[in-house]
Amino acid sequence: MLLEGKLVNLRVMEKEDLPLFAEWVNKPEFLGEYNPLRQISRAEIEKDYDKSSLEQTGFIIEKKDGGKIGYICHFILGHPVGKLLEIGYFLVPSERGKVYGTEALNIIVDYLFLSKDMTRIQAHTELRNIASQKGLQEAGFKKEGTLRKLFFNRGEWRDALLYSILREEWKEPKILTKTTAQSKHQ
Ligand SMILES: CC(C)(COP(=O)(O)OP(=O)(O)OC[C@H]1O[C@@H](n2cnc3c(N)ncnc32)[C@H](O)[C@@H]1OP(=O)(O)O)[C@@H](O)C(=O)NCCC(=O)NCCS
Repeated sequence: MLLEGKLVNLRVMEKEDLPLFAEWVNKPEFLGEYNPLRQISRAEIEKDYDKSSLEQTGFIIEKKDGGKIGYICHFILGHPVGKLLEIGYFLVPSERGKVYGTEALNIIVDYLFLSKDMTRIQAHTELRNIASQKGLQEAGFKKEGTLRKLFFNRGEWRDALLYSILREEWKEPKILTKTTAQSKHQ
């Protein structure tokens, strides 16, 4: 599946992307200073990939020349009262601050509201992660509140902010007009 934007496309992650993805997620610079450091083995990454489904999909963010510049995903968090649809996103350091992140957010929001019967999409971000918060706001997300001491990162407990966008706030697609259904998951 390919979701086409003006500056970037989101291409559903395929098995051939896993070595690059493993390299990215194990690099502190890729995660950025506001996300906890992780060490994930190729085997774990492959296992996760095999579990991916319509509810949990990763996309490679590509520039129009095909250059791979990041990753964006959606997944479901279980909650006693319902399903929470959440997104996560990362760009390689050299491609940050060029609006690619905001466009990728707009594309995934369009895609999710066009293709899934969900009323809300959420994201959380570290309190100090201004680029992430501004991107979310640009894509129509609203701040819901603070998740105090949500995670431990680089020696201290960090607060996070929860953002969401509701279907009625989205109203209509900003970028996508249709989704092409050629994924292995569809
Ligand atoms: C968060 C991230 C995806 C944002 O994408 P991006 O392409 O860099 O952001 P954009 O260029 O679209 O900019 C979005 C807004 O943030 C601002 N911004 C960008 N980088 C910034 C920085 N380092 N500090 C402060 N503001 C910044 C931009 O000016 C823009 O604001 P505006 O709409 O008022 O002009 C990207 O920076 C990233 O990958 N960071 C590391 C990983 C990460 O933190 N992921 C989020 C996990 S919650």
